[in-house]
Amino acid sequence: MSYIWTASPDNVTRAADVLRAGGLIALPTETVYGLAADAANGEAVAQIYETKGRPRFNPLIVHVPDRAAAALIGEFSSTAVRLIEAFWPGALTLVMPLRTGAPVAPLVTAGLDTVAIRCPAHEVARAVLRAFDGPFVAPSANRSGRISPTTAGHVASEFGETVPVLDGGPCEIGLESTIVGLAGDRPTLLRPGAISSEVIEAVLGMKLATPGDGISAPGMMTSHYAPQAKVRLEAEDIREGEILLGFGGTKGAALDLSPSGNLREAAANLFAYLRQMDGMDKPIAVTPIPDEGLGAAINDRLKRAAAPRS
Ligand code: TXA
Ligand code: MG
Repeated sequence: MSYIWTASPDNVTRAADVLRAGGLIALPTETVYGLAADAANGEAVAQIYETKGRPRFNPLIVHVPDRAAAALIGEFSSTAVRLIEAFWPGALTLVMPLRTGAPVAPLVTAGLDTVAIRCPAHEVARAVLRAFDGPFVAPSANRSGRISPTTAGHVASEFGETVPVLDGGPCEIGLESTIVGLAGDRPTLLRPGAISSEVIEAVLGMKLATPGDGISAPGMMTSHYAPQAKVRLEAEDIREGEILLGFGGTKGAALDLSPSGNLREAAANLFAYLRQMDGMDKPIAVTPIPDEGLGAAINDRLKRAAAPRS
């Protein structure tokens, strides 16, 4: 069987099975083709970064079938409800506070306490969401640094036979969703996209702020979670008072990102472990992590965690 699948009911079921098994599926949305993985499965999400060759962990968009599913993941403000009623299903992504206990792996939000949610309008994406019966994350289905795919053929030329693609024809819009941040003082345009800011402003009856406006927008201005604790990298030993974050079975580690030395597992554990160790109130030493594959993104994140802050 080819890796380009017609979007038949049988193949939609198979796609949902792949997601359930922790695999990746490329699928059409009305904006661009997405590379989907189970949002609750950290290792599946890590595989997205691996497959795209992304050198960094950027937070991803959680795709849901409807408002009720979104309500399990994000905390709605009255502004969120208005925008959802006006634009969902459709090409508007909303960033809101992450609900405690939301079925979303920490790698999805890159450890942030906000989450981006979108309800796609494309019939095939919606059919997969129904068959899978849970949220999936889906960045554009292209290798890092390349243009977003708008046909199944584009996706195939990015990933070859490594990822099955559900063929839903060319994307109607061909441009990513607009992202509005709702976790701060004012609704903020975080990414211009398929729905113009004017149309959104007409619904809100106010101007959208932009990230440069100097407004306070927690979880957005600081777009990455940073630990309070001091972090020391490439640690070959534990110094007095430190706790050690290990990799590959490091002796004396308080936590080990992957005792078997599996980078996908390490990526899936990274943000949860950093938070857990941050809560221990001691300086954190980190074992050297191989800088290949997903290790590069892990090391990028650790370097920023270790950088001095004002
Ligand atoms: O149209 C789309 O939105 C496509 C299709 C496939 O649905 N998806 C897409 O996903 O464009 P992606 O991963 O390429 O874009 C994610 C964007 C990033 O710019 C990221 O910074 C932002 O969403 N984002 C995600 N979570 C965020 C958060 N908690 N706070 C701020 N920005 C966030
Ligand atoms: Mg993209």
